[in-house]
Amino acid sequence: SCSRLVLGIETSCDDTGAAVLDEKGAILGESLHSQKEVHLRTGGIIPTVAQQLHSENIERVVQEALERSGVDPSQLSAVATTVKPGLALSLSIGLKFSQRFVRQHNKPFIPIHHMEAHALTARMLHPIAFPFLVLLISGGHSLLAVARGVDDFLLLGYSLDESPGDILDKVARRLSLTKHPQCSTLSGGQAIELLAKSGDRMRFRFTTPMGQTHDCCFSFAGLRNQVTMMIKKKEAEEGIEQGTLLSCVNDIAAATQHTVATHLAKRTHRAILFCQANGLLPASSPTLVLSGGVASNQYIRKALTVITETTGLHLLCPPAKFCTDNGVMIAWNGVERLREGKGILPPNVDVFYEPK
Ligand code: KG4
Ligand code: ZN
Repeated sequence: SCSRLVLGIETSCDDTGAAVLDEKGAILGESLHSQKEVHLRTGGIIPTVAQQLHSENIERVVQEALERSGVDPSQLSAVATTVKPGLALSLSIGLKFSQRFVRQHNKPFIPIHHMEAHALTARMLHPIAFPFLVLLISGGHSLLAVARGVDDFLLLGYSLDESPGDILDKVARRLSLTKHPQCSTLSGGQAIELLAKSGDRMRFRFTTPMGQTHDCCFSFAGLRNQVTMMIKKKEAEEGIEQGTLLSCVNDIAAATQHTVATHLAKRTHRAILFCQANGLLPASSPTLVLSGGVASNQYIRKALTVITETTGLHLLCPPAKFCTDNGVMIAWNGVERLREGKGILPPNVDVFYEPK
């Protein structure tokens, strides 16, 4: 084949991912090692542990992606690797590995911005032209941006404190949801979504964050505090120990999920109106791309569908495996950059990781 081939490598947080893509975005081979279970046991990511696990797995993950693709390193056109943002210790493993790899095989290196890669993944699956609006919601991120080009993003809003994944994970932990048999292997967000299905979201009422703020930023710390206070109050009423509440966890989960969804929907609505007022989106088939781990939540998706339908936007959400961290999205960003000749470095250039 004469198509150019890109190896993508991701280690910015707790997933070690690699993939080989051709120029059209066909996935020739991929491999992913998730550290989720380890971090679930320790109640959060310990950066040194994440780093250790990345360094134990990166060699094998990259080998696997290459073997599955049937591509020899000599056939690659470039190697693309996440260099920011993320955990410094985690990023450094992928970057060090990649710098050694590109020198050894004499290949160009393409440094990748993790958020830009998330934002552009939808273009691998659908023919979405620039510009489009993107909402990224995960354990590490919360942002609204207009994607105007491969390396041109207009940031409209970001979280002033925590991410939506953070609050769902922390509330789940505070309620000890992993002790519920049906939630034992689920992430906090998945556990909240499952329990909320049989909960009454009206039983507890939390205030939607930033009701008086006229921008597109997010805040979740205050909501987390509201929920924690409510849990404490219930525990006190029932005279039980912290983390042993059973009576109304479904209702708390439902109300928390509802308030997170409402906040995300309201900020996104503002962003859409701002874009429309300023001609930032195309008149014909304007699109909102929704991505990140939290985007797999059906209740949150529904809330955003209501917003896109009333404002005339198409809502596109990649399948869950492309919404969460993986090597494919990094390789795809490499493909997009290679096509436009943007940000491609010779093998011998020193690249330093940038946590921010
Ligand atoms: O994108 P991701 O896998 O990793 C990063 O944070 O980069 O996202 C993980 C986050 C976690 O906070 C997890 O609780 C949340 O996504 N999550 C969900 C759901 N599935 C995963 N949140 C709400 N509903 C879900 N179904
Ligand atoms: Zn991510």
